[in-house]
Amino acid sequence: MESTDSNTPKVIVLTGASSGIGEATTRHLAQMGHQLVIGARRTDRLTALQDELRAQGAGVDALTLDVTRLDDVQRIAAFAQQRYGRIDVLINNAGIMPLSPLAALKVDEWNRMIELPLKFRLPAGRV
Ligand SMILES: NC(=O)c1ccc[n+]([C@@H]2O[C@H](COP(=O)([O-])OP(=O)(O)OC[C@H]3O[C@@H](n4cnc5c(N)ncnc54)[C@H](OP(=O)(O)O)[C@@H]3O)[C@@H](O)[C@H]2O)c1
Repeated sequence: MESTDSNTPKVIVLTGASSGIGEATTRHLAQMGHQLVIGARRTDRLTALQDELRAQGAGVDALTLDVTRLDDVQRIAAFAQQRYGRIDVLINNAGIMPLSPLAALKVDEWNRMIELPLKFRLPAGRV
C-alpha cells in the first residue's frame, strides 16, 4: 500500500503559480521536497520561479496554462502523468478577483470570477 503521510514527496499540479498565494505556495511546497508542476499565463514569471527553485535543488516544471482552455488543461495533466506517472494533489488556485461597487453592476466580471476556477477539469482518470 502507498504511503500517504505528509513527509512522502507528492506530485502536485498547482495552477496560478505566477504570483500571490500560488507563487508562495509553490515556494513552500518545493522547499518541502514535493515535485511541483506549475501553470499560469505569464510564462516569464513562471519560468523565473522554476529556474530560481531549480537552482536551489527543488523539483519544479513550469508550463504555460490558461485554465479556460481545455487543451492547456489536458496538456499539463498529461505532462505530469507522463513524466511522474501520477498526480497526487491538484491545487486549483488560479482565479481573478476584480473589485467594484455593487452598484456598478459589472455582471460579466462577477461571472468570470465565478466561472474561472470551475473551468479547470482534469481529464477523467488523471488523479
Ligand atoms: N488574496 C485574497 O485575499 C483572496 C481572497 C479570496 C480568494 N482568493 C483567491 O485565491 C486565488 C489566488 O489569489 P491571489 O491573491 O494570490 O491572486 P493573484 O496574485 O492575482 O494570483 C492569481 C493567479 O491566478 C492566475 N490566473 C488567473 N487567471 C488565470 C487563467 N485563466 N489561467 C491560468 N492562471 C490564471 C494568475 O496568473 P496569470 O495572470 O499569469 O495567468 C495568478 O498566478 C485566486 O483564485 C483568488 O480569487 C484570494
